[in-house]
Amino acid sequence: MKDQISINYETCTLCGLCGEVCPNLTMKVDRETGITLRSNRKDLCIKCGQCMAICPFKSIQVAGLSYDTDFFKLPKGKAANLPFGEMVKTRRAIRTYKDQPVSTEVLEKIVEAISFAPPSFTPLKIELVVVQDTSVIRKALPEMIKVYDGLLKVMRNPIGRLIIRLKNGAEKFKVVEGHVAPMMQSRLPELKQGVEDTITRYAPAMIIFHAHRDAEKYETDINIAMTYGFLAAHALGLGGSPIDLVPPAIQNNSALQEMFSIPVENVPVAALILGYPKYRYQRGIKRELKSVAWID
Ligand SMILES: Cc1cc2nc3c(=O)[nH]c(=O)nc-3n(C[C@H](O)[C@H](O)[C@H](O)COP(=O)(O)O)c2cc1C
Repeated sequence: MKDQISINYETCTLCGLCGEVCPNLTMKVDRETGITLRSNRKDLCIKCGQCMAICPFKSIQVAGLSYDTDFFKLPKGKAANLPFGEMVKTRRAIRTYKDQPVSTEVLEKIVEAISFAPPSFTPLKIELVVVQDTSVIRKALPEMIKVYDGLLKVMRNPIGRLIIRLKNGAEKFKVVEGHVAPMMQSRLPELKQGVEDTITRYAPAMIIFHAHRDAEKYETDINIAMTYGFLAAHALGLGGSPIDLVPPAIQNNSALQEMFSIPVENVPVAALILGYPKYRYQRGIKRELKSVAWID
């Protein structure tokens, strides 16, 4: 089968940016040997386009994406100075950060923006844990790894699979089977060796969104609130990404619940990692909606 990702070595300078921003760290870049696609990851490309968006020389090609039609010239200026319609076009899921802490003042601004997100109805139910102490995130990672190691073992057992399906419903099971399990299968060896953090991404800060398990409509409210959070972060010059791998790990591990002060009667729903982006993207990525129907 032809690889989904190819490199034009005539223009590639082996700067390594494509490998750094790839969500699954698929490309291994070495100045001596060039770019190697990791055999257990290359077929897991989600075609997010980040490698093509960051490449200064348009040297990387993901099958099905075109520099001419799927990317656009970024508007000039800081996100904070752009009108909203332009600002949203410049946001990316940021997973690589400068070694720079995020101040309490900046985190408070993000929390304030989150508080303005529309709730479906009262009483308000969103609870946040703002993790500013990076050492707590680092300490949590081995516990998260344990949870995913356990999940893969359960997924190998037909009865275990059935239990996961019954507990989580058909749609969530499909996500675990089709995305989470193969992705974690490919990432766990390096995670366990401590050479890569493909869960919390060495993020300097993280916000965890949770709610009481008896609260109503809390998942929807939290997802909207989290969107306010990452747009606010972007406008403040930070970058971030929702990390769907974190909440189920906390939910299934009491040490993590304790570390993050999540009450046992609460459900962690979302996690947003935050920090100052290490790299600048060369172009924006167009995102097509599945369909738009106009009734006029
Ligand atoms: C609900 C949600 C969950 C996500 N979970 C993860 C995650 O667990 N790990 C990760 O690296 N990225 C995660 N992302 C980021 C997406 O992969 C990213 O938004 C997508 O690839 C598109 O890239 P872009 O945001 O740069 O446009 C998540 C995004 C959303 C909206």
